[in-house]
Amino acid sequence: MIKRVAIICGGRSSEHEISCISAAGVLSAIDRSKYQPILIGISKSGKWFHLPESHPLAISDGVLPTIPDSGISVALSIDGFSAAGQNLNIDIAFPLLHGPYGEDGTIQGLLEIADIPYVGSGVLASAVAMDKSFAKPIFVSHEIKVAAGFVVRQGQWQTGSAEIQRAADQLGYPVFVKPARGGSSRGTTKVKSAGNFAAALVEAFKFDTKALVEQEIRGAEIECAVLEIDGVAKASLVGQIKIDAKYEFYDFEAKYLDGATTIELPAPIDQKISDEIRTKAVEAFTSLGCSGLARVDFFLTPNNEVIINELNTMPGFTATSVFPKMWAATGVAYTDVITHLLKSALTRNNGVLGN
Ligand SMILES: Nc1ncnc2c1ncn2[C@@H]1O[C@H](COP(=O)(O)OP(=O)(O)O)[C@@H](O)[C@H]1O
Ligand SMILES: [Mg+2]
Repeated sequence: MIKRVAIICGGRSSEHEISCISAAGVLSAIDRSKYQPILIGISKSGKWFHLPESHPLAISDGVLPTIPDSGISVALSIDGFSAAGQNLNIDIAFPLLHGPYGEDGTIQGLLEIADIPYVGSGVLASAVAMDKSFAKPIFVSHEIKVAAGFVVRQGQWQTGSAEIQRAADQLGYPVFVKPARGGSSRGTTKVKSAGNFAAALVEAFKFDTKALVEQEIRGAEIECAVLEIDGVAKASLVGQIKIDAKYEFYDFEAKYLDGATTIELPAPIDQKISDEIRTKAVEAFTSLGCSGLARVDFFLTPNNEVIINELNTMPGFTATSVFPKMWAATGVAYTDVITHLLKSALTRNNGVLGN
């Protein structure tokens, strides 16, 4: 029996367009002998529409794809998805959404209530991974090292900035200031001296009411893709992010401007270290109770210390994104990655409490 798969894309986060491009990739690669995709787009204002597959989802003449604010509305009730009064009879949902309202446990909760199996982590794991201030202590409790630092809430900053400034001075500059629940490096600043600290916090608070202040980790940025295959979490080869020297760090421009960044696969590091990173990637995945997939991002210092930076439960998923690329290099083609994810969605209990 061919399963009906809801490909859900767009959404209310700043990563709306990237999500659309990921959906285009999945539509082009999904195994149609087993799965029938049904495209559901969420506009930037949060409206859901049932779209024809012909809806343009690729970059065209330099214009990024978006979901318009009109079309055939989709309703989700405890009976499932429907459009134009008809139940869409969805067997599996693939929420290809990044950031808030997509990667943070909210849509996962909606799908739990509607009893629709879905790709990726459950409610708890999604929410914890989205909030770096919660994920970091869990990594530490599993003996995975993180950057030293502290959390600042907007209210604390407004009432006690001198004390917070002192704490940053104590960490020693440079420090990184970033929103606790950010993405795409938005709101992240490398602060080189005490005089620039306050402005960086103000910037982070434009994106979130909670910020992280961290000691700078000097080292390579290494990523590892974890995929659940037949119930077992497996780690891909690891890749090293190569950023054009004109960027201070892996910021928004370095991430998305054409050609600014490449990934070296496999990373040019000792086998022993890459094995250690792969093991830690799976441990990080397990520690948060993840399901299906995650991209786990690390720093590797010159003296071979492995420090986790963050875990993304719905990483970029276009055919040329890091996650599918790392699996292709490991011997699992894009189409097969999608099939593994859809199979896992049906067989595991992702549930509210994760795995
Ligand atoms: N403590 C740190 N030390 C060094 N670089 C950092 C640190 N924190 C963040 N960065 C840099 O900022 C980038 C974005 O930070 P990250 O925490 O990954 O946020 P996002 O979720 O937006 O990707 C990282 O890829 C890295 O280049
Ligand atoms: Mg990151």
